[in-house]
Amino acid sequence: MLTDTFDRRFSYLRLSITEVCNFRCDYCLPEGTDCGPEARAHDLSLDEIRRLVTAFARLGMRKIRITGGEPSLRKDLTDIIALCKQTPGIETVALTTNGYRMTKDVDDWYAAGLDAVNVSIDSLDHAKFKMITGHNKLQKILEGLDRAAELGLPSIKVNSVLMKHYNDDAMDDFLDFVRERPITLRMIELMQTGDNPEFFDRHHLSGDVVIDRLRREGWQERLRGRDSGPAREFWHPDYAGGIGMIMPYSKDFCATCNRLRVSSQGQLFLCLFVDEHQSLRHLLQSDDPEPVMAFLQEAIKGKDYSHHLHEQNAGATKHLAMIGG
Ligand code: 5AD
Ligand code: SF4
Repeated sequence: MLTDTFDRRFSYLRLSITEVCNFRCDYCLPEGTDCGPEARAHDLSLDEIRRLVTAFARLGMRKIRITGGEPSLRKDLTDIIALCKQTPGIETVALTTNGYRMTKDVDDWYAAGLDAVNVSIDSLDHAKFKMITGHNKLQKILEGLDRAAELGLPSIKVNSVLMKHYNDDAMDDFLDFVRERPITLRMIELMQTGDNPEFFDRHHLSGDVVIDRLRREGWQERLRGRDSGPAREFWHPDYAGGIGMIMPYSKDFCATCNRLRVSSQGQLFLCLFVDEHQSLRHLLQSDDPEPVMAFLQEAIKGKDYSHHLHEQNAGATKHLAMIGG
């Protein structure tokens, strides 16, 4: 098992498979990215991903989340899901997506073994959704979510980044959304990255305002297990779904960190927000997992207790499309 010097265990890998995204979310990639083949030429290959996942699984990784950029821009996403699912030791394969291909592809993803999907929806208002992402795709994305539910995908979540002036007045919509649907909606506090300091100053809002309201309206917090990660989950007897809170600026957020990240070019991120990353790509050129495992066991000793966001230090992370949040 991968364990750091603070006795945290790492059973959860977030693997980015491309930095490219077709949306232009204001807080992440307001100018968009080049989606052409050159921009994707250096992404990890299927063989490299298989070797990486095998080594992590040998070290006790049980859950893999495939992220991006937008992972569904890769034509081999279904193959990647299948290979993760078939790796001995891996129990759960999850995907974070902007959802734009769900109506077309979610059937294939499910057939390949996908267990969980998180879809980013920052507003349930069509005009605001378009303003934030640059695309008028909310309707299609909601249809994709319905299809995922119809298929019986075991876990469906929606991620919403909490933002002043954008969606801080939208709690009624969000709560209505989970009243009948067995979906967890997770409010994520906006994080400062290298590229978005002004946006952050204008729009950051503490999740405490949401929690105060939930408590007033009878929502209760679930107890957390040792491996449950940094999100706080709330439930209510009158609602089929739940609300999750991801509050990276709150005290002790990192105490329950259970995740490691690898970028689409094979860099190990010990934390979302650090200055330096070590590449393990050279170790993915042969089928022997031992050197990758030895590398990871050594590298994990260098993991810090916490990020330094409170000191306005986001490390080398320019935006989260680099590493998938
Ligand atoms: N702060 C908070 N969340 C962010 N995401 C992307 N950038 C940021 C940021 N600066 C979210 C996306 C997606 C998840 C992977 O991370 O909206 O839901
Ligand atoms: Fe873990 Fe870094 Fe996230 Fe904290 S900020 S929970 S240490 S990855």
